[in-house]
Amino acid sequence: MASVIKRCAGALLLAGVLVVGAGVSGGVSGGLSAGSALAADPPPFNTQLEGKSKGEMWSGVRQGVQGLVSIPDKRAGTLIQSEGEAWRAVRNGPLSEYGSWVLGGIFALLALFFLVRGRIRIDGRKTGRTIQRFNAFERAVHWLTAGSFVVLGVTGLNVLYGRHTILPLLGPETFAAMTHYGKLAHNFLGFAFIVGVTLTFVLWVRHNIPERHDLVWFLKAGGLFSKGVHPPARKFNGGQKIIFWSTVVGGGILGFTGVQLIFPFSFATLGELQLYQLVHSAVAIVMIAIIVAHIYIGSVGMEGAFDAMGSGQVELQWAREHHSLWVEEVTGERVDHHHHHRAPAE
Ligand code: HEM
Repeated sequence: MASVIKRCAGALLLAGVLVVGAGVSGGVSGGLSAGSALAADPPPFNTQLEGKSKGEMWSGVRQGVQGLVSIPDKRAGTLIQSEGEAWRAVRNGPLSEYGSWVLGGIFALLALFFLVRGRIRIDGRKTGRTIQRFNAFERAVHWLTAGSFVVLGVTGLNVLYGRHTILPLLGPETFAAMTHYGKLAHNFLGFAFIVGVTLTFVLWVRHNIPERHDLVWFLKAGGLFSKGVHPPARKFNGGQKIIFWSTVVGGGILGFTGVQLIFPFSFATLGELQLYQLVHSAVAIVMIAIIVAHIYIGSVGMEGAFDAMGSGQVELQWAREHHSLWVEEVTGERVDHHHHHRAPAE
C-alpha cells in the first residue's frame, strides 16, 4: 500500500516537473488551454514538492510514470523507461559475448572438420552424365535468399559488433558512412529476404517432411565422418531438412521481428520492441552459424555439390551416392545402396 502511495506521489511530482518544464520552454500554453486538460491537471508544482523528498520523486520517475507533454507524441512524457537499461545490458553483455563464441565456434569447427575429413569426394567412377536437380526458378529463388541473407548478415553484424571491431580500424568518418549505407541496405534487403524465404517454403516444403529414413541418416551422421558411407536419401537428406526448416522458421522469426523494428511503435510497444531486438539478434547469430556450415558443405566441402545451384545439373554418380532414392524416382534406374552404382538388371 505504502509503495502504491509513493508511486502516485512520484507520478504527480513528475507530472509537475514536466508541465513546468514545458511551460517554461513556452510550448505548453496552447495545449493546456483546452478545458478538459485543465480539469485533469495536477496541482501546482510547488505544493506537490512539499514534504516530498527528491528520492521519492526519482523513484516515481524510475517506475516509468507518465508525465504531461504538449507535443503530439505522448511517449515523450516518460522520462525514464528503466527496462531500457536491462535491454541494453543484455544486448551489450551476454548476447554479444555468447554470440561471438557461437560465430567463432562454427569457423573453428569447420576448420577442424576440413582438417580431419578433407573435401568429401565422389567415391565411385564419374559417369560424365548429368541430371537436372534444380530448375532456373528454384536457383533464382535460392540466390535471392542467399544473396540478401549474406548482405543482411554482414550489415547486421556491423550494427552489433562494428563499433568494437571496425570503428577502431577505419576511424569514425569511414565507419559512419559505411554503417549508414549498411543500415539502408539492411532495411531494404529484409524485404527481398522475406520474399526469398516465402518462395523457398512454397517450392520445397513437400520434399522436406521428416521421414523414417531420415532417422537412419542421422544415426549414421549422414556418412559425414566416414568415407564411403552414404545413407539413402530422397531429394533432401536429414541434414538438408534441418537447413530448410532453419531457413523457414529462423527466417520467419527474423522477418517478423525485423518488420516490427523497421516500423517502431506501429504494431508494438517499447517493451515488445526491446524483446524483438534481442530475439532478432540471437536468432540471426544462430542462423548465420548454421548457414556458414551450409555454405561450406555446398561449396568447398563437397565435390559436385555446387553444380546443383550453379548450372542446376549434377553428375549422376554424385546423385547416386548422396540421393540414391531420388535418383531411383527421377530416372527409374535402381541404385545399389551399398556400392552406389546402377544395380545390375534382374
Ligand atoms: C551464399 C552461399 C551459398 C551457397 C554456396 C549455397 C549452396 C547451396 C547448394 C549447392 C545447394 C544444393 C544442395 C543440393 O543439391 O543437395 C543449396 C541448397 C539450399 N540452400 Fe544454399 N547456399 C548458399 C546460401 C544459402 C542461404 C543464405 C540460405 C538461406 C538463408 C540457403 C538455403 C538453402 C536451402 C534451404 C537449400 C535446400 C536444402 C539444402 O540443400 O540444404 N543457402 N545451397
